[in-house]
Amino acid sequence: MDHFLYRDGHLYAEDVSVAEIAATVGTPFYVYSTATLERHFRLFDEALDGMDHLVCYAMKAASNQAILKTLAALGAGMDVVSGGEYARAKAAGVPGERIVFSGVGKTRDEIHAALSGGIRQFNVESEPEMAVINEVALELGVVAPITVRVNPDVDAKTHAKIATGKSENKFGIPIARAREVYAHAATLPGLKVIGIDVHIGSQLTQLEPFRLAYDKVAELTEQLRADGHEISRLDLGGGLGIPYERSNDAPPLPTEYGALVKETLGHLGCEIEIEPGRLIAGNAGLMISKTIYVKSGEDRDFLIVDGAMNDLIRPAMYEAHHDIVPVVEPAPGVEKTSYDVVGPVCETGDTFAKERIMAPVNAGDLVAFRSAGAYGAVMASEYNTRPLIPEVLVNGDQFAVIRRRPTFDEMINRDTIPEWL
Ligand code: LLP
Repeated sequence: MDHFLYRDGHLYAEDVSVAEIAATVGTPFYVYSTATLERHFRLFDEALDGMDHLVCYAMKAASNQAILKTLAALGAGMDVVSGGEYARAKAAGVPGERIVFSGVGKTRDEIHAALSGGIRQFNVESEPEMAVINEVALELGVVAPITVRVNPDVDAKTHAKIATGKSENKFGIPIARAREVYAHAATLPGLKVIGIDVHIGSQLTQLEPFRLAYDKVAELTEQLRADGHEISRLDLGGGLGIPYERSNDAPPLPTEYGALVKETLGHLGCEIEIEPGRLIAGNAGLMISKTIYVKSGEDRDFLIVDGAMNDLIRPAMYEAHHDIVPVVEPAPGVEKTSYDVVGPVCETGDTFAKERIMAPVNAGDLVAFRSAGAYGAVMASEYNTRPLIPEVLVNGDQFAVIRRRPTFDEMINRDTIPEWL
């Protein structure tokens, strides 16, 4: 459920008319709903009720500080994967002890910054990285809390570009080598091993892959404890999918996921961390775009909108589906038509949807790309020297621009011309 509904024939974000925001900030833009963000966070938090737990929002999904602050106020931790994300989480007021550092290539500088500023734990992805964390901790005279990310060799049954838990993927250390790696970690004085980390992929639409992975983690917990390690925290990653197509079967709910966590891992008495990103932000955001032209091709009609692949890259990159709905609700029973919905960027890949059946749209009409809150704004680029589009946050009947559109001057003045030119 989200808070983007038609009222009297007009699309609203909570109690604010989307057309009114468009009139104020111009198009295209992203708009997020506070109530939806909060609801999704609480669903996860409540799903783990009865277990000691922390929901660490994977801020790579949507990292505007206003979103981070909204979630942090409810008690969320943050999962960060770069020095930039760490700095952003801190700037939003998230305390270090609620920040988990994931990511396959943490640099010495990033490790230094996190150890200096405070960190809940590093999820270590390789032995060379473990060595560097140990060295930096010793330099700073601190002890770094770590888990080791294990790769359980489980098929997440999702798009190949976002599956991470197979042995052929770059992530984690093979679970078969885990005991050896933990034994080595225990000899490093700058590290304190506190648990195990696993993340098998994103947009999972079934529980079974999670079950396979978590069963393996349960078994490993017992083996490592028998080896003398203190395993008190399990970080289970993110990955629960969202319904992108309203017509399709819905993926499992956070309550069902929480029940699975309890069933597979509850008996171990560990503190549980999860790192959901998409499920919290995805359906909490829309991209709003204006139709520039409707162009009749040889055998199809093109809806040319002012948003493009640089603003929302998911369709081009993952063949992702986003529902596209008009901001003015079509009259009931209106005859639908078929469009290829495209942006103005000079690439055929700049296509949001092919042969999409929808109510007729005219030039100037606003359309909303649904489920665009996660991996939308954060993956945008300035390709074709198109400015990054604004982000707007709605809260009840209020809205605020939480990132403004840069001017062309701001964009082009970042270039510096060498003196020989
Ligand atoms: N934890 C780790 C270590 C991750 O790598 C990810 C996502 C998450 C948590 C959050 O997963 P989620 O709950 O959002 O599924 N750009 C792609 C998705 C990439 C996901 C990368 N890692 C997309 O637009 O579909």
